[in-house]
Amino acid sequence: MSERKVEETTEAQIAVHWQEEKYYYPSSKFIGQANVTDPAIYERFSLDNFPDCYTEFAEMLTWYKYWDEVLDTSDAPCFKWFKGGKLNASYNCIDRHLEKNKNKTAIHFVPELEEEKIEHITYQELYVRVNEFAALLRDFAGLKRGDRVTIHMPMTAELAITMLACARIGVIHSVVFGGFSASASADRIVDSNSRVLIAMDAYSRAGKQLNHKINTDDAVKIAKEGGQIVEKVLIWQRYPGKYSSETPMVEGRDYFVNEVLKDYYGSRVEPEQMLSEDPLFLMYTSGTTGKPKGCQHSTGGYLSYVTAMSKYIQDIHPEDVYWCMADIGWITGHSFIVYGPLALCASTVIYEGVPTYPDAGRSWRIAQELDVNIFHTAPTAIRALRKVGPDEPAKYNYHFKHMTTVGEPIEPEVWRWYESAVGKGEAIIVDTWWQTENGGFLCSTVPGIKPMKPGSAGPGVPGIHPVIYDDEGNEITKPGIAGNICIQNPWPGMFQTIWGDRDRFVDTYFARYCKNPESKDWRDWPYLAGDAAVRSEDGYYRILGRIDDVINVSGHRLGTKEIESAALVADEVAEAAVVPVAHEIKGKEPDLYVSLKPGFEASDDLAKKISDVVCDQIGKIAKPRKVWIVPDMPKTRSGKIMRRVLGAISNKGDVGNVMTLANPEIVEEIQEMERNSS
Ligand code: WTA
Repeated sequence: MSERKVEETTEAQIAVHWQEEKYYYPSSKFIGQANVTDPAIYERFSLDNFPDCYTEFAEMLTWYKYWDEVLDTSDAPCFKWFKGGKLNASYNCIDRHLEKNKNKTAIHFVPELEEEKIEHITYQELYVRVNEFAALLRDFAGLKRGDRVTIHMPMTAELAITMLACARIGVIHSVVFGGFSASASADRIVDSNSRVLIAMDAYSRAGKQLNHKINTDDAVKIAKEGGQIVEKVLIWQRYPGKYSSETPMVEGRDYFVNEVLKDYYGSRVEPEQMLSEDPLFLMYTSGTTGKPKGCQHSTGGYLSYVTAMSKYIQDIHPEDVYWCMADIGWITGHSFIVYGPLALCASTVIYEGVPTYPDAGRSWRIAQELDVNIFHTAPTAIRALRKVGPDEPAKYNYHFKHMTTVGEPIEPEVWRWYESAVGKGEAIIVDTWWQTENGGFLCSTVPGIKPMKPGSAGPGVPGIHPVIYDDEGNEITKPGIAGNICIQNPWPGMFQTIWGDRDRFVDTYFARYCKNPESKDWRDWPYLAGDAAVRSEDGYYRILGRIDDVINVSGHRLGTKEIESAALVADEVAEAAVVPVAHEIKGKEPDLYVSLKPGFEASDDLAKKISDVVCDQIGKIAKPRKVWIVPDMPKTRSGKIMRRVLGAISNKGDVGNVMTLANPEIVEEIQEMERNSS
């Protein structure tokens, strides 16, 4: 194959060698039922109609009082949406559905152990449980409007109930991913000044019952060393009435929720009338370096945005059964398991466990059992499911109309498997690009309007106007040349600030391309996402990964993702990760790490074959220095490949603390390989 034509780039830009993928069109069946099919939506949400266009989103909610101003920019870049409006998130997700839909399932809770029964919680039952727990939080735990609470819980219905109960009384929740350590929980307790910690005793993960209570004791201890006293620890029991942990309860500090709750049976709590700009929750970014950043999300702007995204992009209708297989401990779970779907009166699935337990067919059995028709997951899960059971989906009788991918760029090869095997050629796919900081989607196709293109997120969603700058601050207008993607305008779902650190908020996300730091005009404050991206002729954006992951080979900057995608064209490869290695002439060279699908053996021939595939696909410029065939990739708990760790190994540097990884043992194995080869 000949080398593809590549646009000439300067070193402030990023060259892109990717081939254009062909379009996939939504079926007429999908379009026939879709929530949005009129392309005029893009016009309605053009910059000329900004910010008033966003009232369309706010009007999807029920307000106690309408807003006075759609967008207040007086404290730019801390923007206030729907200023002066009053609403309550728990009311919008529960109470307003009761009149017509109280008997409809709000939450399907699926335990990991298949012999345990699925719990179907109706909207009425959710109402009762949220009210009772809200009364407990207010009267027993002494929490009031504006207080912060840290929640460190596994994937259970009680986690959603806890969040909604906080929202009901105006308490700002900060959920810590259940798999995180006690010290991660403690850092967040200290940063948010939480006096109350809410946790659960145990949960099931890959068939093992894990003791979770032990983390609360350590977290409280570490938080105290950090200067924050936790006065009360509320422990939900995974099996009410039975304590599933060996870690003792601490007298006067720890309480079983289901015991205290008896005093609140039948309680009803009037929802607190929150200002639109009051914070609803904090979500700490799972950054690998530096102190975690508490992204502060608003009540009115956030809830309007996730509701609209759930309706327009997720295409949720009240009759749908919707399963987002993320964890509620991440932003995806907050926006697209809890708040968005419930605001639309959908039935949302909460699954406790891992998608491949006890076997590769588990996810598809759940889909079949609950007749799920909207499915939402991340490339890491898609690759894992493809690796262990490429033919499993065909064995089950489920039919998705709509699927989402989120969290990382998806390689076109993996996208095609998702489309044909998981979606059975019937489902449309949205590739939604966004971040913890954003509340909801930035780029994605509107599924009933735009065709899909494997590997590309699509254009900005209606209302989002991306722009690409080079390193020197010049706008890149030519298609095919990559740079730093920014959003020109604020939007209702964006975070308000970093909790307690406005300067860091401004420095990290706005300072680089800000046109005038004194300005109160939103046009002067483009939002820097920190990702590299390229726009093609049709206005679709392809995300190349974090700016920091870009590799500079002989003055050509290459996105890691395109080399990784090329590697996945080799049939044997399940996952790939590319990192830069210092080279005295070229500056940097790519090192390529791959793991194989089951049934394939590592060999020098195979490594050579994979290297050739990369050169064929992209060109000699991308030739890996070495192809490392490894048993698995080091990953964060959210499934993102830790390129930083691989980079340290390739460059014989310090891998740093790897104990927070999902699989720290793999790091030692790969280091051993590296030592043996040199
Ligand atoms: C990456 C997850 C390509 C990106 C919602 C972003 C993606 C970071 C996509 C945010 C996508 C997320 N295509 N890359 N569809 N979605 N990313 O905060 O690098 O966990 O900056 O939010 O994930 O990750 P976070």
